[in-house]
Amino acid sequence: MKIVSVVGARPQFVKLAPIHAAARAAGVEHVIVHTGQHYDPMLSEVFFRDLGIGRPDVHLGVGSGSHGVQTGNMMSALDAVLAAQRPDWVLVYGDTNSTLAATLAAVKMHLPVAHLEAGLRSFNRRMPEEHNRVLTDHAADLLLAPTQVAVDHLAREGLAGRAVLVGDVMTDVLLDVRNEVADRPSPIAAELGLETGDHYVATIHRAENTDDPRRLSEVAAALAGLDKPTVLLAHPRIVAKAAEHGISLAVGSLIPHGPLSYPDLIATVLHSAGVVTDSGGLQKEAFLLRVPCTTVRTETEWSETVQLGWNVLAGSAAEIAAGVTRPRPPATDAIPYGDGHAAQRVIDILTA
Ligand code: UD1
Repeated sequence: MKIVSVVGARPQFVKLAPIHAAARAAGVEHVIVHTGQHYDPMLSEVFFRDLGIGRPDVHLGVGSGSHGVQTGNMMSALDAVLAAQRPDWVLVYGDTNSTLAATLAAVKMHLPVAHLEAGLRSFNRRMPEEHNRVLTDHAADLLLAPTQVAVDHLAREGLAGRAVLVGDVMTDVLLDVRNEVADRPSPIAAELGLETGDHYVATIHRAENTDDPRRLSEVAAALAGLDKPTVLLAHPRIVAKAAEHGISLAVGSLIPHGPLSYPDLIATVLHSAGVVTDSGGLQKEAFLLRVPCTTVRTETEWSETVQLGWNVLAGSAAEIAAGVTRPRPPATDAIPYGDGHAAQRVIDILTA
């Protein structure tokens, strides 16, 4: 039994970690192909190192580019790799350009494709991630859904026959890492001289918040005006766009900082007063750590976090400020994202 996993961007490395561990434990030959979509060491290498993945078996070195160039380059590089490997399954993750490229390359070679994190929908057809996930779900043979809501979306699109509810693999990783770092102090509070528990953690990287200079100025001003120091763990995309448009990210409450390794991120969020983000993964991580989250988007794929009160959607500066200062949400023991054993279920299904 041979599985080829194709990954390329930071959140995919997190999802890869528990899959790789479960595959190895089951004696599966697991070949990791890195497209090279993310290449900065803090967006890529540190995740392989800290999450015990080892090194990718194949690195395509595709790098950045427009959607068409990046996706097309990945597809053309994948043909030879998939032809040489001839796996029993090609496993694709999430909703990035790497996901779509691997799916299209594999189905055209008649290789079975399994999509991990299938069925998520924002219903916002302007998001590149929405194009990627809808197209991937309709092309793939097996749809591994993280939540019942995702299964329901697939059923409405006529895909129920290919869907299986497995739970969320990011939860597997989060629960393990939370236990490891629970007794560690916040690395950011120590480094920046902030009081533990008295600052916010922010991440903003989505095209819809970064690429239009007026929108980016609005978001930066909103974060700068918050009532506590706000550490912006800045993805290269927001740094590049802010520099291009002359927008300062070091104003008011806002403290720009480079991206963190996964354990440092979890320790930092755990000891913060709240999260402000447009990341899908971080909304869920905040919920699982029971840290209130304010999401700078008009919709979320992780609707359970909103329904349970631990996440609010915010667009304007006033909404963002109201979100971060809202009263602490009600305690909950709901587990909409599974029991932390999703990866095992995925490997059981792929090897059955
Ligand atoms: C990609 C995914 C997004 C995911 C995010 C996670 C797509 C369409 N988007 O967005 O769904 O949430 O990854 O982080 O696939 N850059 C660097 N170094 C890197 C990588 C990127 O400097 O290692 C810069 C480049 O200027 C690049 C820009 O970031 O043009 C955007 O990178 P790209 O891979 O196109 O998308 P992300 O914004 O990272």
